[in-house]
Amino acid sequence: MSNKRISDKMEALLNTQMTREAYQAQVYLSYGSWAEVHNFDGIATFLYGHMQEEREHMFKILKYINDRGGSAKIEAIEAAPVHPKSVGECLQNILQHEIENSAEIDKIVNLALEEKDWATFSFGQWFVKEQIEEETLIGDVIAKYSLAASQNAEHKNLYEVDKDLKTNPQSATIPREEKV
Ligand SMILES: [Fe+2]
Ligand SMILES: [Fe+2]
Repeated sequence: MSNKRISDKMEALLNTQMTREAYQAQVYLSYGSWAEVHNFDGIATFLYGHMQEEREHMFKILKYINDRGGSAKIEAIEAAPVHPKSVGECLQNILQHEIENSAEIDKIVNLALEEKDWATFSFGQWFVKEQIEEETLIGDVIAKYSLAASQNAEHKNLYEVDKDLKTNPQSATIPREEKV
């Protein structure tokens, strides 16, 4: 008798999401590098920090698949998008990536509900909450950036936003569940 407690369909969907989280990490890594090259050190620190979060998400899903008796498959990761043209575009793009990712997470929760797979439903809820936090966090950063960019043409305030992001306690603002 198999010890597998997730359906093949769920296993495949979770696996796709695991790879998607790895892609999200590549996006943050790529944009972080772009910011660093353009001397936005605070923004780079913020993006690099978030890259680690996405890797944690990837690993969390891998562990879950394996813990439920499935077998995670490490697949090819899509290349990160081309570099943004400005900080504003960079921030808008990452918000868009997060919104799209939230829709992917919803697919897991929807299937869990359909299959009455309450373990995965509960697991998926962690990600639903995480996405709310992330969308809010990035939305706040965009609001700060917009304020700074609109106030003067010399980008004096952009410098302040960049400094601010260097010390942004992003992990502290995102509630974490205990590791299983
Ligand atoms: Fe994520
Ligand atoms: Fe994210």
